Amino acid sequence: MSERPQRNLSIELMRVTEAAALAAAQYMGTGDRKAGDQAAVDAMRAVLSTVEIDGVIVIGEGEKDDAPMLYNGEKIGTGSPPAVDVAVDPVEGTRLLALGRANAISCIAVAERWSMWNPGPSFYADKLVVDKRARDVIDIRYSVADNLNHIAVALGRPISELTVFVLDKPRHEQLVREIRATGARITLQSDGDVVGALLAATPGSGVDVMMGVGGTPEAVIAAAAVKALGGAIQVRRSPQSEDELQRVMAAAGDDWDAVLTEDDLIRAEDAFFAATGITDGPLLEGVHYDREGGVTTHSMVMRAKTGTVRYIKAVHQLERLMQFSQVEYIRQVGADWTSIAAAQA
Ligand code: FBP
Repeated sequence: MSERPQRNLSIELMRVTEAAALAAAQYMGTGDRKAGDQAAVDAMRAVLSTVEIDGVIVIGEGEKDDAPMLYNGEKIGTGSPPAVDVAVDPVEGTRLLALGRANAISCIAVAERWSMWNPGPSFYADKLVVDKRARDVIDIRYSVADNLNHIAVALGRPISELTVFVLDKPRHEQLVREIRATGARITLQSDGDVVGALLAATPGSGVDVMMGVGGTPEAVIAAAAVKALGGAIQVRRSPQSEDELQRVMAAAGDDWDAVLTEDDLIRAEDAFFAATGITDGPLLEGVHYDREGGVTTHSMVMRAKTGTVRYIKAVHQLERLMQFSQVEYIRQVGADWTSIAAAQA
């Protein structure tokens, strides 16, 4: 049955991640994780309040790291329909931003109300992500070697030509040994497994698989994009401390280590995802400053129901924005560029 074209929220959400990325990018390399995150949170909150949704934050980044947050349960948007769940990560990769390393992004996911899985006290989860060609051959309960062998067959390549994205953490020593034993290539990244998941779910990105333990909230956000890309994400809670284990077991009972897929993480046919690069990376270029031409952002937006993925470059005139905008697109440090330009004129 045919339907009228519907509103694609991801395009409106892109304005939210653009604003957060622009606000946060000013803190690149400052060494200050909190300041960049706070700027992004403030920008995201300001622009989200203009989006016509009756939103509730289900995934608000911050609890694990005690970061400033758009807190869980916070109502967001104008309050008019549709009623939706919202997952935000104003700066995914706060350390990447603070150190000026690749792959910091701002991202957001939205899906119909009550459809997003709430991780509760689960901070960490084991994840396995692949693109659509390998979606039916993986099982996070298999051994690393079995999964990589199946993926190699599905992609029609020798295992030595697979690249696996793994977070560079002490907890992954054994995982890295097992991947190396298969002959597969590894890209070890200090942070940013939402980018890892997006790369793994995008054919031809240079990353074929993402494996290992990362933040549970990040898994829910990534699931919206993976659904749109047609790939697969499998997740199992993986408590990293006795305290987390006890709280997870108390909340989830015997089922605490069940395998969850993208359809469990977001129980809706439709979902919207937007991300904007903050620092440069293989997925998205970061915020680039050019006072003559404007400041550029690169975003990707997608919708699960249609599978449409858009890459959007935008050029922003920060001085003009600063004449009326609540968002701090230009932070006051050092010399005031406007007066220098006026003096040189
Ligand atoms: P933040 O932006 O919240 O710092 O998250 C970065 C990140 O690397 C995520 O991509 C990942 O899921 C998580 O942290 C891993 O957590 P930890 O650094 O505690 O191992």
